[in-house]
Amino acid sequence: MRVPMIAGNWKMNTTVGEAIKLVSELCQGLDKIGNVEKVLCPPFVSLTAVRELIKGSSIKLGAQNIHFEPKGAYTGEISPLMIADLCEFVIIGHSERRQYFHENGEIVSKKLTAALAVGLKPILCIGERLKENEAGRTEEVVTEQLTSSLAGIDYPDDLVIAYEPVWAIGTGKAATGEQANGTIGFIRRSISQLLGKSTAQNIRILYGGSVTAANTAEFMNQPEIDGALVGGASLKAAEFLSIVKQTSELRR
Ligand code: PGA
Repeated sequence: MRVPMIAGNWKMNTTVGEAIKLVSELCQGLDKIGNVEKVLCPPFVSLTAVRELIKGSSIKLGAQNIHFEPKGAYTGEISPLMIADLCEFVIIGHSERRQYFHENGEIVSKKLTAALAVGLKPILCIGERLKENEAGRTEEVVTEQLTSSLAGIDYPDDLVIAYEPVWAIGTGKAATGEQANGTIGFIRRSISQLLGKSTAQNIRILYGGSVTAANTAEFMNQPEIDGALVGGASLKAAEFLSIVKQTSELRR
């Protein structure tokens, strides 16, 4: 049985003060919801403050990115070791990193290896762009992303994958539950070929892209979807709580 996960990706939003306020609004309610792994991914500068606030609760912490080197002359970067000190999870290969910071398959693969080497659990993001979707190339694109990222990785069972069609991120135009379930089923079959059947059965594959309280049930009613990576809606306490609560109830 795969425990569903709801992860909130706050992206480049919230000052430290705003992060503290948001977690204070979320903490009690989120802590009480069982049967779902709950992960908050605030900006780097708020990790320490958020970590203090969720201490002793069932809420887990994730970072949004890492560099692949453990230390060195990389001004402005944050290493996997620094994050492993604070967090259990890290988002890797988000489409915004691929698009705006030119992260390719090779960089994503290095980051994955580096994260796993220090005991961080990566949330690996993959997904096709609108043009690729319209050209019927979704399966080809996610296969290429999976193959280039997963080449030679150890401990694959610690991995979480988030399927995020780029055209659905931050656009308010989510995929349908059926579409997402179809592609996620395809991803699971590909993982079975790449990493073996038992890993494919154990790995959680989330959907991401304009998930809201209003469409949560559509995704969580699908058998292949093991949760969600939530962007915009994770910045509103009541809405995020509703997404987690609905997931817990639907998956009970
Ligand atoms: P969104 O973002 O929920 O705002 O579409 C999802 C993500 O980028 O992970």
